[in-house]
Formats: sequence, C-alpha cells, structure tokens
Amino acid sequence: MMQSSNTSKTKSTTRPVKGAEIETQDDIKQVLYSAEEICAAVTKMGEQITRDYSGRKVLLVTVLKGAFVFLADLARQIKGDVEVDFMAVSSYGAEASSSGVVRIIKDLQAPVDGRDVIIVEDILDSGLTLKYLLKIINARGPKSIEVATLLYKQCLQQARIEPRYVGFICPDEFVVGYGLDYAEKYRNLPYIGVLNEKVYK
Ligand code: IMP
Ligand code: MG
Repeated sequence: MMQSSNTSKTKSTTRPVKGAEIETQDDIKQVLYSAEEICAAVTKMGEQITRDYSGRKVLLVTVLKGAFVFLADLARQIKGDVEVDFMAVSSYGAEASSSGVVRIIKDLQAPVDGRDVIIVEDILDSGLTLKYLLKIINARGPKSIEVATLLYKQCLQQARIEPRYVGFICPDEFVVGYGLDYAEKYRNLPYIGVLNEKVYK
C-alpha cells in the first residue's frame, strides 16, 4: 500500500526567503513544498517507519547524491536501530536514467543478506533506475525490501514501482531543492520548487 502524507497538494503560497536562496529566486518558478511542509511529511514518514519496523533494525540504503538531505532528516525521525549505507550509480548512455541500465560507481559497504532494507530515494520519475537497483539488491537476499521516496512524480510510471512510503505526489515538472539538483545546483535550497524553463532552455 502506498502511503502518502499529501496527495493533493501541488501549490504552496510560501515564497523563497533569505540567505543563499535570494540569488536563485528568479530561477524558481513556483515553490511546491516549503521547508515546513517537507518537515511535516518527513516526520510523518519517520513515525510510520518506526511503527512498521518496531523491534527490528532497519538498513537505509541511499542512492547518491539527491537523497542525502532527505536521508539526514528521515533517519532522525526513526526511533530505534537504524543503519545507513550509500550507493552511487551512473546511467549508461547520454540520457540519464532513460535506459534503466545503470553502472554501480559506489557499492554498499555492508552485506544486505537477511537485513530489513529500505531504499531511500529523492524522486521517482520513470522508476527505471530504482527497478534496476531493486533487482541488484534483491539478488543479495535481504529479509525484506521497501522503498521510501520523498517525491513521486505524477507521470507515466514506466517501471510501475509502488513505493511503500511517499512524501508527496508531485506534478510532472522539473523540480529542485532539498537535495535535488539541476547541473549540481540548487541542492542546498531548503524548499522544493519548480525550476524556471529559462534556466535550461
Ligand atoms: P528515474 O526514476 O529512473 O527516471 O530517475 C529518477 C532520478 O532522476 C532521480 O533519482 C533524480 O536523481 C533524477 N530526477 C528525476 N526527476 C527529477 C527532477 O524533477 N529534478 C531533479 N532530478 C530528477
Ligand atoms: Mg536519485
């Protein structure tokens, strides 16, 4: 069952404010989720995971780089035993994640056999990258494997992955902030916003 803390929200009235954000303000067309809204969604997800994994040690497997901010907040909202590990992948070919065939740049440090694994993702778009990762990790014999994604893009989900935990179902737009980048920029924005087309057109 997909659990989303917010399925209908696509617009926030919150404006980008203060600090490093000011210089990028023009680049953001619309703020979708404010820092406060993200915090509420991540807190709720952490509570769900705490309940679901009560008495079990959970291994949070994070796909670099985009999910690093989400992981840091989510891990701190899970009460109980938590371990974290990281993977880095790169897509074959020029178009990132279009083929779903990925090369492992950095593998997990710990073995996953017999472990309760949650893959932590920033955003599920086509789902092809994740489908491939699930296949790789499943082959290593975990006790269980689930997916926690902060954003779930409302588009044709080619790989039909049903994440157990979803922060927000978001519109099919290119979004940045809270770890998500465009050309390695905007990861440090505390909110998630739609990137202005003028930045990449
Ligand atoms: P896919 O699900 O295989 O299509 O690829 C998902 C990955 O593409 C995510 O983990 C992100 O790294 C990246 N991605 C997809 N949509 C966006 C977006 O709107 N903003 C930033 N990165 C994105
Ligand atoms: Mg990613």
